[in-house]
Amino acid sequence: MDEHKGRLRASELEDSGDVGVNPTHNITMGEIIATRFNRRDLLRGSLAVAAISATVGHRALAANEQPVKKASNPISFDFKEIEAGVDHTHHVAEGYDTQVLLRWGDPIFADAPEFDPMKQTAEAQARQFGYNTDFIGFVPLNGSADHGLLVANHEYTNEELMFPGVGVQDSKDANFSKMTKELVDIEIAAHGGAVVEIRRVNGQWQVVKDSKYNRRITAATPMEITGPAAGHDRMKTSADATGRKVNGMINNCAGGVTPWGTWLSCEENFNGYFWGKLGDDHAEAKNYKRYGLGTPAYAWGKYYDRFDLTKEPNEANRFGWVVEIDPFDPNFVPRKRTALGRTKHEGAAGITNSDGRYVVYLGDDERFDYVYKFVTAGKVDTQNRAANLGLLDEGTLYVAKYNPDGTGTWLPMVHGQGPLTEANGFKSQAEVLIETRRAADLLGATKMDRPEDIEANPQTNRVYVMLTNNTRRKEDQVDAANPRANNAFGHIVEMMPEGGNHAATVFTWEVLVKCGDPSVAAVGATFSSDTTKNGWFGMPDNCAIDSQGRLWISTDGNNAKATGRADGLWALETEGERRGTSKHFFRVPVGGELCGPFFTPNDESLFLAVQHPGEVDEGTSSFENPATRWPDFKDNLPTRPSVLVITKQGGGKIA
Ligand code: FEO
Ligand code: CA
Ligand code: CA
Ligand code: CA
Repeated sequence: MDEHKGRLRASELEDSGDVGVNPTHNITMGEIIATRFNRRDLLRGSLAVAAISATVGHRALAANEQPVKKASNPISFDFKEIEAGVDHTHHVAEGYDTQVLLRWGDPIFADAPEFDPMKQTAEAQARQFGYNTDFIGFVPLNGSADHGLLVANHEYTNEELMFPGVGVQDSKDANFSKMTKELVDIEIAAHGGAVVEIRRVNGQWQVVKDSKYNRRITAATPMEITGPAAGHDRMKTSADATGRKVNGMINNCAGGVTPWGTWLSCEENFNGYFWGKLGDDHAEAKNYKRYGLGTPAYAWGKYYDRFDLTKEPNEANRFGWVVEIDPFDPNFVPRKRTALGRTKHEGAAGITNSDGRYVVYLGDDERFDYVYKFVTAGKVDTQNRAANLGLLDEGTLYVAKYNPDGTGTWLPMVHGQGPLTEANGFKSQAEVLIETRRAADLLGATKMDRPEDIEANPQTNRVYVMLTNNTRRKEDQVDAANPRANNAFGHIVEMMPEGGNHAATVFTWEVLVKCGDPSVAAVGATFSSDTTKNGWFGMPDNCAIDSQGRLWISTDGNNAKATGRADGLWALETEGERRGTSKHFFRVPVGGELCGPFFTPNDESLFLAVQHPGEVDEGTSSFENPATRWPDFKDNLPTRPSVLVITKQGGGKIA
């Protein structure tokens, strides 16, 4: 965290380490062994039985004797790997085309103004595609893979790259002196998300500008708060005496698309938008400290009282939720589903369980924070779409505990159970949810290395957890699920729900791969030896599973100066003998990070999003002098975050 005068850079929000938890615990012999050896190798090696039975119980052995590779239908990726590196533009594997589908500022309505970077207004921005798309989903229309609704989050804004004559304000200027109310209003309009009808005609994707579905959602759009925390006193403000209505969603990172065709959009680093600190004796002081409030990265609190905690102390409780949006109804009031907890939500990808319940996996992206899942009480109704719209309001939230022996437990977060009682400050389920992190601390969940996207593979029921990095983990904080101190490159944990049942409260797990450059022994990366020098990656962030059950990973934070490579997309084998082999498919222009990825149901189109192209660490890149003018490369246009679509030349699956 590069803090300056109590201000954070917006781009550093994801890296800010404001945890308030006790990171100490006792290391068991099992953890030490699992740390020092790759557990899979250990279990399969000759010393496995002796070493393991000396340190862990029979339950772990039994769990690990189950065939891990039950899908065992290894389909290798056959694309020709690209070279890792960094320059001003993007690169995709040979034989594939990249189309720029939607750029920041592109009009998404027939009557919307064209993008004019020198004459930006909030009104124009609210009719144009927003900034920094992270999650992208594709919801087919009439079952088509060539015609549907693109849903896209607009996570955050970079003032120095967006606005002429402004330069870096967050971190450089305690008072954000160049951020006028007009610019803040443009930022508010550039946040949120978009629904855009798109169609593939003669192989090319097009935006349908006169679609009845197209919609911009901003950080000011009226929304409803639903579920157990709705209406609670701590959710009420001077503008909303009901505690059930809120304007806007902020910092929406990743998300998911439900089987009933709604879009789940996740509020992540909401803390960066609030000014003001509450006194230590304030009722919300502990709560807000745990979420890192008090170091704003935006000027919004300067002009809007609701973004100043000293004036509106409950407003921040109304952010940090998973928002459900029906893209088929442009008048749908987005709903903040409080039953899924309040964290710095990365994503909300789910899977329909064998019993019909819907299970959503949720990462809380902070150093030493947790992995969660939500299991609905009701079942997905495949006949009546509308019947599913209340499904995410009732169910059980769980937080994960990873045991050193390769087993794990989902701990229910239910008021009145265990430590979640009034004695610990939780008077109701509403309060357990408002303070999800503190509740999870008390339950003894496992402190992870920044949980990002989590996806379940419907073909194997195995679940993949992207743990992007945690350079603050010390040697004495290492555990089996977070096996490296100073974890600069992150790792991926694979979880196996008991009997393939995603509602089960026990699971087994193992580290699929420790990321980083395998040729540098000190890094301790564990890609397979078939992985080339281009094939390794660090900082896994978003992920997707294609229809053949294969894992694709996009990265955030491959500092080009340190690693000589830009962020991008890698394909990682999880099956058979090639398990742990990674191949490089796509890379972004300098300064960018790669988001998405999302496949059409036939795997023939792959949507990707490039966030903050041209954002370089030195903060020297600006509107006037960006590190790249991608994707337009015109002197009169700034660099623009954009959504891309990849297709195979001549047609066919991306593979
Ligand atoms: Fe917005 Fe955790 O990445
Ligand atoms: Ca992310
Ligand atoms: Ca994903
Ligand atoms: Ca990211």
